[in-house]
Amino acid sequence: MKFFVDTADTADIRELAATGLLDGVTTNPSLIHKSGRAFLEVVEEICGIVDGPVSAEVVALDHDTMMKEAEILRKIADNVAVKVPLTIDGLKTCKKLTDDGTMVNVTLCFSANQALLAAKAGATFISPFVGRHDDVGLDGMGLISDIRLIYDNYDFATEILVASVRHPIHVLESAKIGADVMTAPPAVIRQLFKHPLTDKGIEGFLADWAKSGQTIG
Ligand code: E4P
Repeated sequence: MKFFVDTADTADIRELAATGLLDGVTTNPSLIHKSGRAFLEVVEEICGIVDGPVSAEVVALDHDTMMKEAEILRKIADNVAVKVPLTIDGLKTCKKLTDDGTMVNVTLCFSANQALLAAKAGATFISPFVGRHDDVGLDGMGLISDIRLIYDNYDFATEILVASVRHPIHVLESAKIGADVMTAPPAVIRQLFKHPLTDKGIEGFLADWAKSGQTIG
């Protein structure tokens, strides 16, 4: 499963990219606002940090303006994935862009039928929002299972990008279901490395090593 980080904070992106485990980045208009930086400038910087896909979202609602915005975004770098909302105009834009060889991430997916439409529109990635789904009392991970089943039934190449990830269990369940990608905030990715028994084990080993009086090299 690929790991994308869901942020426009370039300090966090640099730190996580240095682990060698980061496969891409997703942003959205709210994350750009939170960064306090100019949209195109920050996307260009992120594209220089990671080689993998960097999602940058259009804000227009009509196809023609979406295409104009996508033109600007895809010129930033080859690894830009244009993010479009799951609407009729968004999917029309998706079809046109992917026919041209541009990566497209279809965002704000909340049903398996929407995911089916995105795959038919040639989406590179479909982003079902599991956390927001859970927030309204629905089963976010159940949605991922349904999409996996449907995509496998028809051999769709669209990658399932689990979005709106809130905690490590979302990551674990995504991997068990066989999602292709998950995108999570930096704090959730850092949590994945942590286990109290790992810390306790290191502490015990180092205490015994110190008592042995040895050094390596
Ligand atoms: C995905 O691409 C979105 O940016 C993101 O995962 C939204 O997450 P949220 O529901 O925590 O805002």
